[in-house]
Amino acid sequence: MTQQALADDGAHLTLRPTSRGKIVGRSAKLRAVVETADRVAKSNCNVLITGESGTGKESLVAAIHDASRRAEMPFVTVNCGALPEALMESELFGHARGAFTGAHVTRQGRVAQAEGGTLFLEEIGELPLSLQAKLLRLLQQREYTPVGDNRTIKCDIRIIAATNRNLAEDVAQGSFREDLFYRLNVIEMHLPALRERPDDIEVLVAHFYKLAMDMAGRDDLQGFDDEALAAMTAHDWPGNIRELENTIQRAVLLAPGPTIGASDLPMASARAASRTAASASFGALPDEGINLRDVIEEYESSLVRQALERTKWNKNQAAKLLGMNRTTLVEMVKRKRMG
Ligand SMILES: Nc1ncnc2c1ncn2[C@@H]1O[C@H](COP(=O)(O)OP(=O)(O)OP(=O)(O)O)[C@@H](O)[C@H]1O
Ligand SMILES: [Mg+2]
Repeated sequence: MTQQALADDGAHLTLRPTSRGKIVGRSAKLRAVVETADRVAKSNCNVLITGESGTGKESLVAAIHDASRRAEMPFVTVNCGALPEALMESELFGHARGAFTGAHVTRQGRVAQAEGGTLFLEEIGELPLSLQAKLLRLLQQREYTPVGDNRTIKCDIRIIAATNRNLAEDVAQGSFREDLFYRLNVIEMHLPALRERPDDIEVLVAHFYKLAMDMAGRDDLQGFDDEALAAMTAHDWPGNIRELENTIQRAVLLAPGPTIGASDLPMASARAASRTAASASFGALPDEGINLRDVIEEYESSLVRQALERTKWNKNQAAKLLGMNRTTLVEMVKRKRMG
């Protein structure tokens, strides 16, 4: 990794500061992905990026493009699941005038628009089988034929694909071509879910908070209180970074202030944390009452989490701190989806 390529102030891992923003994080898992991205950026090889929705696949591809020799050339994105088969073919490869009803003019496809640059194929797993064959030809020969045309057109593009599916499984089931899979998968990069890299949450919160404050034009907010931060750390973020970004934008817009508390956050876990706070240390029963099961569950989670954090996730030691055996703890962590 070149020093120049990786501007790293502890929070921002970025291949190159770009207009599309920074890749923020400090977990070892994200760092490993960014380091691989840096290594492949200069090459022309096909890359397949996997990861759940909202984990930053598109951001990573944009960063790879911006760090590549093609940076000044177009960066074109196509969502392979967005259109029915016939329209998708013309979207990708363009069509000749009169190719089908409604094709009044010749239309350039996305492949032609990306000439010299990078073509990013989102949700590649959704591409119908007939188009997979045409994409394979594009990958192998760097050539294609527009719909309703008989010319063969050569192109110079780099192709990066992404999916939130398990393509190897799709191959096994026959819905994805094996030869295409191996062509795309020369380099596979996996963006872990946010719950698998909780170390990134704090710096992402700070990053999105700053962006949201600028956008909302608020100057009266003084950040998050401890309870809100704890709730965000504990939440499992099924929508990953996009969910975190939206959560913070919403809180910055709507929180009465001066600080953002857990009850200003939309996640159920945050509301539960706020409801249980009063009773978390066997405090008085609040006037408005509680939900006993939720309180106990939250209190249990909080103590388990503290034990795990204090022992750096050594489950033997954590179990000892909690006076239970390791198996019970492992089951509890699994049930609470903390691990
Ligand atoms: N590491 C990161 N640092 C800062 N912002 C990020 C990071 N990762 C993702 N984002 C932001 O989170 C949002 C979702 O990211 P992105 O669109 O890249 O995800 P995706 O994996 O392509 O999602 P989908 O599978 O739904 O297409 C975007 O607004 C993006 O800017
Ligand atoms: Mg995307």
